[in-house]
Amino acid sequence: MGLLQPDVGYRRPARSAVIPVPFRTLDGLSVAGKRVLLRADLNVPVHDGKITDLTRIERVSPTIRELSGKGARVIILSHFDRPKGKPVPSMSLAPMAAALGEVLHRRVRFAEDCIGPPAEQAVAALGDGDIVVLENTRFHPGEEENDPAFSRQLAALGDIYVNDAFSVAHRAHASTQGIAHLLPSYAGRLMQAELEALSAALATPRRPMAAVVGGIKISTKLDLLGNLIGRVDVLAIGGAMANTFIAAQGKSVGRSVQETELHARALEILKKAEAAGCTVILPVDAVTAPELKEGVQPRIVAIDSVSPDEMILDIGPRTVATLEARLATLKTLVWNGPLGAFETPPFDAGTNAFARAAAAATQAGTLHSVAGGGDTVSALRHAGVIEQFTYVSTAGGAFLEWLEGKTLPGVAALGA
Ligand code: 3PG
Ligand code: MG
Repeated sequence: MGLLQPDVGYRRPARSAVIPVPFRTLDGLSVAGKRVLLRADLNVPVHDGKITDLTRIERVSPTIRELSGKGARVIILSHFDRPKGKPVPSMSLAPMAAALGEVLHRRVRFAEDCIGPPAEQAVAALGDGDIVVLENTRFHPGEEENDPAFSRQLAALGDIYVNDAFSVAHRAHASTQGIAHLLPSYAGRLMQAELEALSAALATPRRPMAAVVGGIKISTKLDLLGNLIGRVDVLAIGGAMANTFIAAQGKSVGRSVQETELHARALEILKKAEAAGCTVILPVDAVTAPELKEGVQPRIVAIDSVSPDEMILDIGPRTVATLEARLATLKTLVWNGPLGAFETPPFDAGTNAFARAAAAATQAGTLHSVAGGGDTVSALRHAGVIEQFTYVSTAGGAFLEWLEGKTLPGVAALGA
C-alpha cells in the first residue's frame, strides 16, 4: 500500500481536505501465465516524425521487465496524441512499440487495433513473458468518452489491470478509469514512484513557492492556472500560453500563437491572482522572428513592441533576469512547460537559462525543484540539467492537477 494525495499544507485549500487513496502495488502479486493489461503512457514527444525523448518509455520499462520476468503476458495499452476517436496513421503507436523493443532489448509485438480481432489474435498468440503494444486507444471514441462497452472490450483482453500511467491519470478515460472497475487493478512501479516522490517533495512545501507554467497547450492549462493561484505565492507564465495573457492586456502579439477567445478568462485569472495575493510574472520582453525556423534572424523586443508580422518565440533576456532574481528568493519551484520554442535554437535560450538557474539553486541547497511534463523533461535534458532537479515527473497535466489537490480519476479508480 502506498499513500497518494498528501495532506498538502496549502494556505487556502480550494477544496475539502484531500483524502489519501490507498492502492495496491505489484508487491506480492502473482502474474505468471496471466494476461496483464498494462496502461502505459507512450505519448512521447515527436518532432518531424521522430521520437525526440525516450524518458516516458524508459521509465515505464522496469514495470514491463518485472511483469514479463514473472511470466505475465504483457498487453500494453496507451494513447498517443489526440486523434479524436478516429484512426490517424501519423498517430500510430507502432514507432513507440519499436522504441520500447530497443529500450528493453527484446521483441515487442504490435497489434493494429486495441480491440476486436487484431487485438484478440495478438493476445492469443502471446506466450508467458511476451509483450505486445496495442494500437492507440484514442483511435476509438469510446476511449475518451469512457464508454462502458469500450471498457468491457478492453477488459476482455486481460485478467489483471495495471496502471503505470500517472501522466494520464487526470483523464477519466476507458483505459485509465473505466477498465479499473472491471478487473483486479494495481499501480505499476512508475505510478507508485511518481506518487511517492511527489508526496515526499510537496506534502508540505517550503515557501515561498512558485509555479512556472509554459508550453502551448493553452486552453487545457488556463483552468489549472486559475486554481494554482490559490496554492502558490508566485505564478510565472511563459511559452505560447503567455501570449494569450499579453494580448488580453491589449498588446499586439503579431502572428504569435494565442487564443483570442480566452482573453476574458485570462484577465479574470489575473484579477483573481491579485485578490489572492499571488504575484503573477508575465514576460516583459520577447525574442521574435517572422517564422519558427532554425537560422532565422531573431529580434529582442519589449513586450509592447512586437510588430504585426512577427511571432513571439521565446522570453527575452530581461524576463530571464526577472525570473532568475525571483528564484533567489524561492524555496520551492514547480515547473511545467517550456518558456519558448526550445526545440529550435536560438529560441531555447530563455528555457535553458531558467533551467540552469533553477538547477544551480537546487544544487546550492536553497531550492526544492520539481518539474514535470513531456516537453519540460525534454527541455531539461536539452539544457543538460535533468539530473540536477530535486524530482522530475513524467507527468505534465496530471502533475499540475495533482498539485492543485484534485483527485486524479485514474488513481482514484485503483483504490476502488
Ligand atoms: C500528456 O502528455 O499530458 C498525457 O499523455 C495526456 O495527454 P493529453 O493531454 O492529450 O490527455
Ligand atoms: Mg496533457
